[in-house]
Amino acid sequence: MVQTNVRRIIENSCDHHHLVTIHDMQVNDSVKLTVLDEKDVELSELPIAKEAWMGFIVEARIKTFLGVRGITKALGLNVETMSTRADLWPSGILATTKLDGQERLVVLDTVTPISENQTNWQVLIMVNKTGNLFLDLLSYIVFGWQGRANGFADKLLFDNMSADTGRAFIKCDQPVLKFRQFYQSWVNKAQSNK
Ligand SMILES: [Fe+2]
Repeated sequence: MVQTNVRRIIENSCDHHHLVTIHDMQVNDSVKLTVLDEKDVELSELPIAKEAWMGFIVEARIKTFLGVRGITKALGLNVETMSTRADLWPSGILATTKLDGQERLVVLDTVTPISENQTNWQVLIMVNKTGNLFLDLLSYIVFGWQGRANGFADKLLFDNMSADTGRAFIKCDQPVLKFRQFYQSWVNKAQSNK
């Protein structure tokens, strides 16, 4: 249970710089986010209607993947690059992460509103199998623990953030603003159908 609204939780994924400032991902340079154009991507495998879809890719050259360098090294993952393809709809995200070009992790986030400022946030973490049972077990523990730790860090902010925080924007807020526009278009559709 999170004390915020659906939009806040989903738009957080469009704030690529918070991976460094909140989740302790150490990078060699800056984190890059590219908003995808529906003309450039294949959506046929996703259960998302085209008009309810928004997508982006986050890329970075990293020193640590969300604060687990020592453990990822032990896993044989001396990772140098990460890229996450995110497919969003107004109340959910499917994020597929590649480390050094190899798909390792898929995270499904969905949010269910309960009341004005209360939501249920569900997170499902899927770890790609490597074919090595020991590595797979360790990966489940590491990525599972990491997912929980990152979720708690976000929840702490959501629970304490005032609903009208964030009135002035800078260039790197563009993806969040784009998501807000997209989200609002669905709020309008829902209201006009009442
Ligand atoms: Fe986060």
